Amino acid sequence: MSRPTVIVTRALPAPWLAALAAECELVIGPAAPPPASAVAGTRFAGRGAWCDATWSALPRADAILSLLTEPVDAAVLDAAPRLRVVSNMAVGVDNIDLAACAARGIPVGHTPGVLTDATADLTMALVLAHGRRVLEAADDARAGRWSTWSPDGWLGRDLCDATLGIVGWGQIGRAVARRAAGFGLHCLVHSRTPPAPAAGIEPVGLAALLSRSDIVSLHVPLSPQTRHLVDARALAAMQPHALLVNTSRGAVVDQDALVDALRRGVIAGAALDVTDPEPLPPTHPLFSLPQVLVLPHIGSATLGTRRTMAELAARNVLAALRGEPLPHAITRG
Ligand code: GLV
Repeated sequence: MSRPTVIVTRALPAPWLAALAAECELVIGPAAPPPASAVAGTRFAGRGAWCDATWSALPRADAILSLLTEPVDAAVLDAAPRLRVVSNMAVGVDNIDLAACAARGIPVGHTPGVLTDATADLTMALVLAHGRRVLEAADDARAGRWSTWSPDGWLGRDLCDATLGIVGWGQIGRAVARRAAGFGLHCLVHSRTPPAPAAGIEPVGLAALLSRSDIVSLHVPLSPQTRHLVDARALAAMQPHALLVNTSRGAVVDQDALVDALRRGVIAGAALDVTDPEPLPPTHPLFSLPQVLVLPHIGSATLGTRRTMAELAARNVLAALRGEPLPHAITRG
């Protein structure tokens, strides 16, 4: 019997794909999407790492293991009449047209849970790095600008007794709250399904969260309801000394409004692991603002986490190919 064909949209370390390779023919995409300039005007423009090899394998594909950089939309699905599953190596699935998959009866898998700790850790890293001016101070030390122990140099913000507003009470929001408790932060939480009040955790409406928080941290998935949730009005509701932290999806923030708010001192700073678009061009105004810290979407980037994500995504594929329910389905097809 012929082995099923699985498209893996981007190259991953071979050991991470060993279980899939043992049972399937793999068609593996490039290590990185081509630069936008190289694809402009072709059918691959804006299509992440879909390249000739992966695109032309769609008619015989039984499964797609996608990364968040590749769109899986109606055009992809129409080109893949045999497709039995889409498995995203991410917890977020905003790159996938879920309605188009459901209309074709194709289940969609993702990788919840395994990246919670890594992403919550990175959220705290952003809070600490921005709040204590870690990058600026390290640059100054390296560049010979450390002339003495300075009583009023590199002054940052105190975390103990500060108020952290957590928008979104999924696994990552809750993991951030657990870490925040260790730093003495008081947490305000806004969510569609608010937590029960507990020591250090206060459920509030979004307006109260924005106006009372010293730090606002975003932990919602990107959806039509959350796109530009943080817009000019939301930013205007924040305190002038407030810091905005985003480790969710760039488009949850209206980035033009953010640039404007930062330039006018409406809020004090932003620490962003995610932007819109990604990668953010080096000429983008956010990079010219000293009160902004931008990371290249590394929330889940630990060796153990990324490997586990790949293995979970592979398990979703193998289950579907065996006709079994996906262990981690976002939709069941
Ligand atoms: C990362 O951003 C993910 O959604 O897994």
